[in-house]
Amino acid sequence: MNDFVSSFWSYWIAILSIGGVVFCLVLLFSQRAWLKREIEQVEDTGHVWDGDLTELNNPIPRWWTVMFVGLCIIGLSIFWLYPALGFGNGFTGYSAAREVRADQLALQERIKPIYARYQEMPFEQVARDESAREIGQRLFLNNCAQCHGSDARGAANFPNLTDGDWLWGGSPEQIIHTITEGRHGMMPPWGAQIKPSEASDIAQYVRSLSGLAHDALRVVPGKRHFDTYCVACHGADAKGNPAMGAPNLTDNVWLYGSSEASIVETILNGRENIMPAQKNILTEEQIRLLAAWVWGLSNNPGSNVAAAN
Ligand code: HEC
Ligand code: HEC
Repeated sequence: MNDFVSSFWSYWIAILSIGGVVFCLVLLFSQRAWLKREIEQVEDTGHVWDGDLTELNNPIPRWWTVMFVGLCIIGLSIFWLYPALGFGNGFTGYSAAREVRADQLALQERIKPIYARYQEMPFEQVARDESAREIGQRLFLNNCAQCHGSDARGAANFPNLTDGDWLWGGSPEQIIHTITEGRHGMMPPWGAQIKPSEASDIAQYVRSLSGLAHDALRVVPGKRHFDTYCVACHGADAKGNPAMGAPNLTDNVWLYGSSEASIVETILNGRENIMPAQKNILTEEQIRLLAAWVWGLSNNPGSNVAAAN
């Protein structure tokens, strides 16, 4: 297996590597004076230094040639044993990807005992357990902070995970699902159906929903268009739908910004956003701990939950 998108690169590597070895062998053969038992009269090159230092044209020593041929044979055997040419897996079936996978599995075995304790614990309790939270935060800093920020407050295009507002739902199961399988948020573009002037009417209506400054006259046609095009996903009350990651448009939490220009851009050109699946990177146990930490950011798992239990 290799990661090349076209077999051209396999041929490229194979031709260069095999060609290199063949070239060396041909070169050695062309200089085959060393094959002769007796070396006759050695010519000199005619170069003389300091009056009596003459440069001779001795053939390559035999020991050196044998070593060189040996190296060519070792090279060819490596091509045969390992996937060195970009094709196949070689005679040994070696694969670097498999070796990494085996290392990962070995590491997962090693860390299992650390997580075993938390597997038994109820989710809410993990969320308020001091050492579980330390592990959760470290996992977050290593795997998630590059997108969601080290304080998990997100940025434009990357959701804030601390505000209690969820695109895909904030229950423990939904968060675990989001992290394990990833999410693909997609708002389709409406540029073909909706005129820019209509889009800006809709934007006025959307802004009015969360109490932002708006033009009351344009809200009326805006709502009409919204009811035609938008309620299927965002709901008649515009409170969104976690089944498809459609955001609540009434709460003044914005992934792409609340300006009319940004909302019009969303309507005409659509938006697409990907939360990458972590199931091949983190173990189920790690994901549960991480989900508990994320859940705890907006659910205050401290005293009140303890009291409720
Ligand atoms: C490459 C960037 C990237 C990385 C890395 C990443 N995320 Fe995300 N995440 C996103 C994006 C983008 C979204 C929003 C998807 C959408 O718009 O539907 C998201 C959404 C989420 C959501 C859902 C939020 C909601 O409102 O429903 C959660 C929970 C989440 N991420 C947690 C994590 C955790 C935990 C990690 C680390 C294991 C992580 N993410 C790593 C980009 C990332
Ligand atoms: C097919 C379902 C669907 C339809 C129909 C739809 N949306 Fe969306 N919308 C989404 C999804 C999903 C997102 C989140 C995209 C993402 O995560 O990147 C979104 C995002 C948005 C946002 C960005 C919110 C933010 O926080 O920045 C706005 C505004 C919006 N939609 C308005 C509309 C309007 C207005 C219409 C009607 C013209 C509409 N949507 C129709 C699914 C839909």
